[in-house]
Amino acid sequence: MGYVISFAQQKGGAGKTTALLHLAEAWRLSGKSVGLLDLAPQRTLMSWAEAGGAPGLSVMESAGWRSGTDGRAAAKTYDIVLVDCPGNASSLLEAALRESDLVLVPCQPTGPDVWATTAVLKMAAAARTPARVLLNRVPARGGSTAEAVIKLKQAGATILTSRLGNRVAFSAGLLDGRTAFGIARASVATREVEAARVEIDHVLAAL
Ligand SMILES: Nc1ncnc2c1ncn2[C@@H]1O[C@H](COP(=O)(O)OP(=O)(O)OP(=O)(O)O)[C@@H](O)[C@H]1O
Ligand SMILES: [Mg+2]
Repeated sequence: MGYVISFAQQKGGAGKTTALLHLAEAWRLSGKSVGLLDLAPQRTLMSWAEAGGAPGLSVMESAGWRSGTDGRAAAKTYDIVLVDCPGNASSLLEAALRESDLVLVPCQPTGPDVWATTAVLKMAAAARTPARVLLNRVPARGGSTAEAVIKLKQAGATILTSRLGNRVAFSAGLLDGRTAFGIARASVATREVEAARVEIDHVLAAL
């Protein structure tokens, strides 16, 4: 039975789909079979797959009352199932969180993202599913990253040590169905994703 990881964050544009696609590539390249489940209304994962997608990454769509269990069903086939969740708090999101082994919460180090993170952490706690915050789009210098970390910890968040920087490579390839790995296999961006992948593997192993 594989692991189900939900990517959830009520603040739009925090990086759910971007983090999911890059981590999917990292797991695939590490030899794991990866299934992607699109529960988000924009169907971004589906569009990415239709634009080319990565060979070996299976993208499935699910909506409505079955979607909580669809992740579990897919975990019978794949080592890792990554679920792109809808942003709004809904019974669909609750079901997805409940049926996951881990919730990953991408969060940019800004006030709006940090405030929205509190809500999804509460939902994960109510679903009794462990959650980790993945800091995304972290500026190389300046910004409010240190303050964001303090606020998140005060809100009870467990933050991954690995972070994704604010990099063109994370967005440039998506339009034609690629990720940063397709632009350059070894880059600062792909090293950041790989570090996050290894850290999340340790979290999963300790569950
Ligand atoms: N680390 C990053 N560096 C640069 N650009 C990024 C990064 N993460 C995300 N982006 C860009 O920010 C935008 C929003 O990211 P994304 O679509 O992944 O967010 P989302 O949480 O899935 O949004 P939605 O709530 O609309 O589903 C996209 O244009 C994406 O390319
Ligand atoms: Mg998205």
